[in-house]
Amino acid sequence: MASAAELKTMAGEAAAARVEDGMKLGIGTGSTAEAFVRALAARVRDGLKVVGVATSERTEALCRQLKVPTTSLEAMPHLDLTVDGADEVDPQLRLIKGGGGALLREKIVAAASDRMLVIADASKKVDELGAFPLPIEINGFGMVATYLAIQKAAQRLGLEGEITLRRTGESPFITDSGHLILDASFGRIPDPEALSRALHAVPGVVEHGLFLDLASEVLLAGDAGLESLRRSGSD
Ligand code: A5P
Repeated sequence: MASAAELKTMAGEAAAARVEDGMKLGIGTGSTAEAFVRALAARVRDGLKVVGVATSERTEALCRQLKVPTTSLEAMPHLDLTVDGADEVDPQLRLIKGGGGALLREKIVAAASDRMLVIADASKKVDELGAFPLPIEINGFGMVATYLAIQKAAQRLGLEGEITLRRTGESPFITDSGHLILDASFGRIPDPEALSRALHAVPGVVEHGLFLDLASEVLLAGDAGLESLRRSGSD
């Protein structure tokens, strides 16, 4: 049986093999995205010409270390392909992301891309989203009021569960954009679109980790090899 690290490497290498010369790339965050960056760096060393936009300071630092050229989304606002990991993937290619705390930049970058290729080990595939706690990025101002509004909005949709402030040790976790993260353990999210709309209607919510209508393909690495899930209508 392959280890999780081997499966991530398999997915990362497969994604790097899809990258074409001259592409403008969105580069994701997390351990699977890191496997992609390492495989991409090997191709760059062999002469592949690409420019990437990193979805986090952590990914930016790794790209710099491995000499993968990057620029800002301001300088290159339209991208060909984003490659990123996920915490959960459902059969409709809806995702939960943000386990690593980079969901806001990840969503902005994915939305600026023609295509989003998601790479993951097969354990991320679920029938229904929600077992993984949903990350919700919020503004620090009025965080208790925002927390209560989120709780109320979720209850209206029949969603219960603990909502906790993400911490790094004793201190609140702060995102690259200076916000906080609430992790909502709803257990199951039967209607992700309704929850997305409800969360966006709460003023203190900056963004949430439900990625709907963004992934065009998911590459899942398992013991039997790679499985590709595609959305109907994507090439
Ligand atoms: C980062 O904020 C996340 O969205 C990651 O893409 C997600 O948590 C997957 O991470 P791993 O590849 O480390 O499982």
